[in-house]
Amino acid sequence: MSNCLICKEPTPIEPFISFGKMPIANGFLGPLDFDKEYFFEMEVGFCSKCCMVQLLSQPDPEQMFHDNYAFFSSTSVRMAEHFRVISDTIRRDYLSDQDPFVVEIGTNDGIFLQNFAKANIRHLGVEPSANVAAVANQKGVHTLCRFFNLETANEIVAKQGQADVFFGANVMCHILDIHSVAEGIARLLKPNGVLIFEDPYLGDIIEKTSYDQIYDEHAFYFSIASVNNLFQQYGMHIVDVAPQSVHGGSMRYVLAHRAANRQVTDAVRLQVDEEARLGLQNPSTFQKFRQNVERSREELVKLLQAIRDQGKRVVGYAATSKSTTITNYCQLDSELVEFISDTTPLKQGKFSPGMHIPVRSHADFSQNYPDFALLFGWNHAQEIMAKEQAFVQRGGKWIVYVPEVKVIA
Ligand code: SAH
Ligand code: TMP
Ligand code: ZN
Repeated sequence: MSNCLICKEPTPIEPFISFGKMPIANGFLGPLDFDKEYFFEMEVGFCSKCCMVQLLSQPDPEQMFHDNYAFFSSTSVRMAEHFRVISDTIRRDYLSDQDPFVVEIGTNDGIFLQNFAKANIRHLGVEPSANVAAVANQKGVHTLCRFFNLETANEIVAKQGQADVFFGANVMCHILDIHSVAEGIARLLKPNGVLIFEDPYLGDIIEKTSYDQIYDEHAFYFSIASVNNLFQQYGMHIVDVAPQSVHGGSMRYVLAHRAANRQVTDAVRLQVDEEARLGLQNPSTFQKFRQNVERSREELVKLLQAIRDQGKRVVGYAATSKSTTITNYCQLDSELVEFISDTTPLKQGKFSPGMHIPVRSHADFSQNYPDFALLFGWNHAQEIMAKEQAFVQRGGKWIVYVPEVKVIA
């Protein structure tokens, strides 16, 4: 039994789903490292007091974010466009006239802050994974290579003053040390400043049975209720929200100091109603989710076994972090999925975490099309299917498993 990571008073949480032993989702590896591969017990629980859905144990951050972090944000053209659009909105709505300052955590290769660097707007990125931080710095994005927390916040304030906007995409949900981060943000923001962050949304995960959003890096699965419960401890509250289609369904939250008395938008009230409709505060919702996950696994495994028995070839498309949950939970090995095609050079020639399916270049896919492509990058489906029309014209079929297991011809 673990205690809730959000509630200040010890609040015990029981798991509603257990995935068993899981490896590091982005831990692509070579054969020499197979026998020292790291595994942890992956269980998810719901705190009925603060409503936070959370991993009950997570590997040390240094196991996940280091000099060889395998995820490069800029591999997705659509994400670059997504961050360009939000950067324009921020410049229009949230920056002060005098020497504005934007701070971002999880800067990665600079995909968001490059828009501010190009416009000569004062900015600072904080990114602990050295290889991706170096790419950001090469692009002219000022980036500190370290973990963000209260101490980092105090140093930034001392050296560069407070910020108009604090931004984080797909990073807040990664950080176990979330209290130090929240306190640091409250310290770092100007009295009228805003925190804008986006992460995969619990409502989408429940509605679509997208259980592959659950992996080591995702310590938290946020909702309006749980985000408000966390940040109210630091004098902040949600003033606006905007659902996003990226990453399979995300939520963008805008928070401000309570003392600033910013108006709370109707969008927040509507989403609170939606969370009640989805039952996100109700433990039985998560029991139902577990049953849906088990059914989804059964259907996918049955389908892949039937295809194998017919002697047809299946190749995985995109070695996403999410695919690690699918391959390990469904026990998909290279008999069921011959290899995974991925455009990231760092992953090619390596093997997938846990199940050790080979990862190969896109050329290996396109020069010898398989009968089926298992779309591990389902969150990039539009972008991927648009550029892979030749695969379908040659008779290839897509297999997807979110929101349901099905074959698309
Ligand atoms: N914002 C990018 C990258 C998301 S991946 C995008 O949306 O595409 C998450 C990133 O957060 C990784 O690059 C990881 O190294 C970084 N990260 C993890 N813990 C962090 C922390 N405590 N402070 C700042 N960045 C962190
Ligand atoms: P993500 O789902 O965690 O964002 O990971 C994206 C991964 O998918 C990354 O390894 C690159 C890979 N990818 C491809 O191989 N081809 C593509 O067309 C896209 C969009 C991503
Ligand atoms: Zn709690």
